[in-house]
Amino acid sequence: MSIADSYDPIDRNTIADPFSVFSRLREARPVAWHNRLNSWVVSSHAECQEVLRNHHAYARDPRRVGISMREDRRNIQTEDPPEQKELRRIVIRALHRQDIDGICANARNRLQNAVLIRAGSGPFNLMSLAAITAIDIVNNIVGCVQYEAESYYPIFRDLTRAMDSGLDRSRLDAGLAAGTELSEAVGSWFTASPDAGMLAELCCNDAIKNMPAYYVNYTLGGVFNAGFSTLYAAIGSISLLLLQRRDLLDQLRGNTLVATGVDELLRFTSPAQATSRFAVNDTVLRGVKIKAGETIVTLMAAANRDPSVFEYPDELQVDRDPNPHLAFAWGPHICLGAQLARVWTAEIVRFLQETQARIRLVADPIYMDSATLRNIVDLRIEVVRSN
Ligand code: HEM
Repeated sequence: MSIADSYDPIDRNTIADPFSVFSRLREARPVAWHNRLNSWVVSSHAECQEVLRNHHAYARDPRRVGISMREDRRNIQTEDPPEQKELRRIVIRALHRQDIDGICANARNRLQNAVLIRAGSGPFNLMSLAAITAIDIVNNIVGCVQYEAESYYPIFRDLTRAMDSGLDRSRLDAGLAAGTELSEAVGSWFTASPDAGMLAELCCNDAIKNMPAYYVNYTLGGVFNAGFSTLYAAIGSISLLLLQRRDLLDQLRGNTLVATGVDELLRFTSPAQATSRFAVNDTVLRGVKIKAGETIVTLMAAANRDPSVFEYPDELQVDRDPNPHLAFAWGPHICLGAQLARVWTAEIVRFLQETQARIRLVADPIYMDSATLRNIVDLRIEVVRSN
């Protein structure tokens, strides 16, 4: 078995500690063929960045390498420039018109109150409150009211697990059904004359009126799910880290938190671990020949610990600068919610700074069996009463 094949992304032990596996992989073969994934896996920073940046050589759109896809599933995540540009630009503008700071600050207050009110009532799962908080933020940002944490969670779970359907085909159908359900929900939000959030901005945009409804609906569904899933995952990974390393909470104060701390937390935890592209032509990556049409999985979480770019990569240094991490990927598909993600990450830190003196971790975390997005689903804590 090759070094790459010994890497099983959805193995429980790997999910609990992927970084030591990534490090072995990067040292042995930074560009390695993985039989089960039927793909190249790339674990070095320079090559991950090159694949993500160079959309001429590496396609997101499967149609560019002759793989068909259903027209009604087309969205900005499945397209490359120039096609994705117009809607992506409109969506980013609509997102940045929202009161991101206010929405995140309010969500943090509600999370804080919901945690502290449980003082003295025994252990509970912080991730249940994380789901309520994340849905609260995306509902406000997007401007919809249909989903609560409980009704949205199965959609998130099925979409997240399907991201690893390259390893387990049985996950695909549930993921496709969840994608369809979400995009139909978005369609119904548009027809209900929305008056808040991104929906209100988008529904009266003339360029959007000329685009197919399925294209817009799938795209906004993608924003909704990408927002929910990563904001939820960030609460789990950052809370676990900082409740285990409370000394960092003191270091993450004032300007340090916003100027460098937030990005270092995102580099270090890397919730979105991987994505993929197709080689458009025969090419060579770090001396390795790749054939046209082959899939390349970029392991951003591995790249984020590459010692040739990050000194002491396994140490969290709150003042790390520069920090060219790939937690939001790179290039034309770089995360369009990065600003919101950074504001929310800072709020998670503030929530922990306010509450940590009364919070105890009471069990090991339980992770979802998903690798592309690594997220804790059960983080047991208890809150002690104040004196
Ligand atoms: C800690 C939080 C977040 C992380 C780590 C993260 C990470 C990422 C990564 C790695 C990508 C690139 C995927 C690829 O190239 O294939 C991405 C794309 C994307 N993200 Fe985020 N994200 C976060 C938060 C958000 C939020 C809050 C939103 C929505 C408000 C969002 C919306 C999107 C969308 C729509 C895309 C697709 C963009 C495109 O394909 O052009 N993300 N994100």
